[in-house]
Amino acid sequence: MPNIMVIDDEKSIRVTLSEFLKKEGYHVITAENVQMARVLLQEDDVDVVLSDIIMPKESGMTLLKFLHETSPDIRIIMMTGEPTVDTAVDAIRLGAHDYLTKPVYRNELIKAVTNAVNFKQLIDEKRRLELQNQEQRENLERLVEERTHKLHQAMMNTAYATAAMLDLRDPYTAGHQKRVGSLARAIGKELKLPADTLEGLHIAGCIHDIGKIAIPFEILTKPVQLSLNEYAIIQEHPKIGYDVLRSYEMPWPISEIVYHHHERLDGSGYPQGLKADQIRLETRIISVADVVEAMSSHRPYRPSLGLQCAMDEITMNKNKLYDPFVVDACITLFNEKKYTFDE
Ligand SMILES: [Fe+2]
Ligand SMILES: [Fe+2]
Repeated sequence: MPNIMVIDDEKSIRVTLSEFLKKEGYHVITAENVQMARVLLQEDDVDVVLSDIIMPKESGMTLLKFLHETSPDIRIIMMTGEPTVDTAVDAIRLGAHDYLTKPVYRNELIKAVTNAVNFKQLIDEKRRLELQNQEQRENLERLVEERTHKLHQAMMNTAYATAAMLDLRDPYTAGHQKRVGSLARAIGKELKLPADTLEGLHIAGCIHDIGKIAIPFEILTKPVQLSLNEYAIIQEHPKIGYDVLRSYEMPWPISEIVYHHHERLDGSGYPQGLKADQIRLETRIISVADVVEAMSSHRPYRPSLGLQCAMDEITMNKNKLYDPFVVDACITLFNEKKYTFDE
C-alpha cells in the first residue's frame, strides 16, 4: 500500500486530505510541521509527500530542497494558499513533482497523488531491475573469475606434469624447470610486466628444457664433463622442444621462448646465434633465470657453484650475454628482496 505523508500546520486540512486519501486505499501519515516530518520520514518509507509551503518556523520549500537532495526518489507535491507563478516555478525547480493551490479539491488531489504514486512505482521498479542487473553481473563476474582460476590451475598443472616427466628422465636436475619458471615470473614481476605475460613466463620456464626428453639418458646424467660430440647432442634440446610445441597454439610465444632460451645478446648462443633485438624480452628473462638456477644447483658433473657465483656470472656478462634490465631485476630480487628458490 503506497505511503503518503501530509504536512500542513492546519489540522482541518490534514484531517480532510487524509480522509480523501485513505478512502482511495492509501496509507497516510501526517505531520504539523517540517521538524516533525523529518523525524517521521526517518521512521517510515514514504512514497509521496504532500506539503504546505507556508508554515511557521520552517517553510515547506526547505523540506522540498532537503528531500530532493537526500531522497530524490520520493515524489513531492507542494500546496499553497497564496499561489504565484514564481512560487510554482521555484517549487518545480527545487524538484517538486507537482504543485496544487488551496483549497485543494478531492478530484484534483487524487489525480495528483495517483500520478505521483505511479511515477514512484516506476522509479522503484527501475531501481529493482538495476539491483537485479548488478547482482547478475556480479554473479557472472564471479563465475568467470572462478573458471579463469581453474583454467589457470589446469594449465599450470599440465606444465608441472610435463616438467615432472623430464625430471623422471633426468633426476639430477629435478625441479630445475619449475624453479626457473618461478624465478622468471618473479623477475617479470620486478620488471612490472603485465599479469598475462607473467603467466606465460611461468609456463615457458616450467617447460623450457622439454626437448631434453629426446636426449639419451647417459648423456643427460653423465657425471663427468661432456665430450664435444655429446655437448652438440645436448645443444639440440631447444630445437627439439620447439618442434614439439610449435604445432600447439598457445596464448603466449612459448615455443619461440623454448627455441631461443640458450641464445645470448652478443650472438654467442645457440642454436641460431641470434643477437640482441632478435631475442624477445621473455626469452632474455628465461635465459637469466635458467643460468642462475643452474649455477646455484648441483649437477652430476659438479657440486653447486653457489648463488654468489651465479650473481657474479650475470653481473660480469651484463650487456654482453644478458639483458641489463633483467640482470638488475634478478640481482634486486636476491640481494634486496631475499628471493629464494623455495618460494
Ligand atoms: Fe636448456
Ligand atoms: Fe634449463
